[in-house]
Amino acid sequence: MKHVEHARRISPGIQRNEKTLFKRASGKFYTPVWMAELLAERLLGNSMPRVNPVRVVDPFCGDGRLLVAVAERIAKCPSLRAAYFHFELWDMDQYSTTEAKRALSNVIRSAKLKAKVHARRWDTFLDSAAWFARFHLVATNPPWEVLKPDNRELLGLSSTNRRKFMDGMRAYDKALAVHLPYSQPSEKLYGWGTNLSRCGLEIAVKLLTPDGLCGIVLPSSILADQVSGTLRRWLLQQADILSVDYFPAEVKPFDLVDQSSVAVILKRQESPGPFQPLVTRHGRNPELTASEQLKLTAHELEALGVCREYGITILTLSFELH
Ligand SMILES: C[S@@+](CC[C@H](N)C(=O)[O-])C[C@H]1O[C@@H](n2cnc3c(N)ncnc32)[C@H](O)[C@@H]1O
Repeated sequence: MKHVEHARRISPGIQRNEKTLFKRASGKFYTPVWMAELLAERLLGNSMPRVNPVRVVDPFCGDGRLLVAVAERIAKCPSLRAAYFHFELWDMDQYSTTEAKRALSNVIRSAKLKAKVHARRWDTFLDSAAWFARFHLVATNPPWEVLKPDNRELLGLSSTNRRKFMDGMRAYDKALAVHLPYSQPSEKLYGWGTNLSRCGLEIAVKLLTPDGLCGIVLPSSILADQVSGTLRRWLLQQADILSVDYFPAEVKPFDLVDQSSVAVILKRQESPGPFQPLVTRHGRNPELTASEQLKLTAHELEALGVCREYGITILTLSFELH
């Protein structure tokens, strides 16, 4: 991820709407605590694989708040706290992994959980393949950035810095296409268009054991837009979607990010079952406004003109039904 390292060095002074080039390139927008708690509640509300130890990871951990919320939830539940946990915190940023490990270790100590914590600084997209199919729980909010140069941000750079940044980004884009093929957009504009949130979803699912559970925060467009069709089709062959919490853009959970978002819980399955997610919509505060368990048979999906093979537009579908 050379372009991000480069952005870190040259970023001070290059600002657009107060988002620095480094902040945008690395996707450092943290999940609000209320959303982290909701994700942990939804994730642990499902029956977990009965294993010892239970391996848990946030592959894009930031300051560790998602696994802190998961650990706090485990501490409240007698049946869960009996297990032994192995927590992994991964981030490309050293400061984040150090902070995350400190925060999570504090919770584990004060709640007297049986657990160990390991932090790794690396590029999760490119370096974590040895850990595929090894985690029983994944909780994460990946970076959401689209890999493409933004001319307004690049204006302030010298031509050498500009070239270095662009070359690094292009090389990274090529490497992602090889490692995470399902995340590639159906078409690219001027050669660009890889969205890191799609890559994050593909990695999160690949890290899961069979029966493993994932809670992930994503831009809602992943569940509905045309360019993510390949990824949705693959996802629905790998996992059951258990629930979707939808937050409109007005909730503004992320600093300066103006997009609607979803918190999705899914379970990795070798042969996924019928499409029956609990879909919950939140208002701007972000109170719960509507909740319904969808129960769609393959026949009903066909009747709505969508089916598993074609990669359904999950959100559009659920809104049509309300
Ligand atoms: C959207 S933030 C989420 C942080 C935290 N999980 C949360 O929910 O608040 C994404 C995090 O991913 C990290 N990140 C971005 N690209 C990465 C990569 N290639 N490998 C590992 N971490 C990465 C960023 O440093 C940032 O901390």
